[in-house]
Amino acid sequence: MKIEIEGLSVEYVLRRSRERITALNDVNFSVASGKFICVIGPSGCGKSTLLKVLVGLQAPSAGKVLLDGVQVQGPGKNRAMVFQSAALLPWRTVLHNVTYGLEIQGVPIKDAEKIAGDFIDLAGLSGFEESYPHEISGGMQQRVNLARALVTHPELLLMDEPFSNLDPQLRNFMQLEVERIWEQTRQTTLFVSHLINEAIFLADEVIVLTARPGGIKTIVPVNFPRPRKLEIKKTAAFHALEDRLSELLDQEFHEMVYPLAPGPNR
Ligand SMILES: Nc1ncnc2c1ncn2[C@@H]1O[C@H](COP(=O)(O)OP(=O)(O)O)[C@@H](O)[C@H]1O
Ligand SMILES: [Mg+2]
Repeated sequence: MKIEIEGLSVEYVLRRSRERITALNDVNFSVASGKFICVIGPSGCGKSTLLKVLVGLQAPSAGKVLLDGVQVQGPGKNRAMVFQSAALLPWRTVLHNVTYGLEIQGVPIKDAEKIAGDFIDLAGLSGFEESYPHEISGGMQQRVNLARALVTHPELLLMDEPFSNLDPQLRNFMQLEVERIWEQTRQTTLFVSHLINEAIFLADEVIVLTARPGGIKTIVPVNFPRPRKLEIKKTAAFHALEDRLSELLDQEFHEMVYPLAPGPNR
């Protein structure tokens, strides 16, 4: 197993009021090497927290997180995270945004440029190496962001709603791109989405989290063959899976908005 999570709980303590917020409560799951896992759940259920623990930016309050059998105890170069906003370095070109992570690792600039060039091609950005972030579109910026995460060959790629700022057509296109790139790299990936159809399209397994405090509600396998085309979104099998997942999410949404009322969970 690439990732093993046992009894993971995360509690935040609010600085002013000292109030404790349980973001994740007793989460258990494991991920086999090379899988593409999507995580969905109502907002505030701890999806970002889960990724932050895996990347090493947030310590667990209880439980264990193992990567290749070794406990995660802080950030490491075997993991990379892609956030919702691209946050590129505005004074660096596309090429030098992508080389940045390699430079930090001490790779000589000429070598870094060569390696980065391959990932710029992979991300479909050839010809834009010398552009600055403000000169390219939001979708392209997000692709630079992706190339920047991939260039260091992370064993674990964590993506936190990376396309939620993009318009729907571009978002579809980016889903295809991520699928295509992942077919080549086969990196173990955890991808948080709040769109059910995005999660199904990309995933080998969709993990559904419960409303806060987040725990695992269920894990749904997705068996569409790869490489996938956008057309699968129009099939009956896809729609059936969408219906099933949206029902599960509705239950959790109800739980979040009306925690004490009679509802679909009771
Ligand atoms: N740094 C923090 N300090 C205090 N509370 C936090 C912090 N980060 C997240 N939370 C709280 O933890 C819960 C889970 O947050 P988050 O992981 O961001 O959820 P999601 O990504 O699913 O929307 C929310 O109630 C949020 O307000
Ligand atoms: Mg989040």
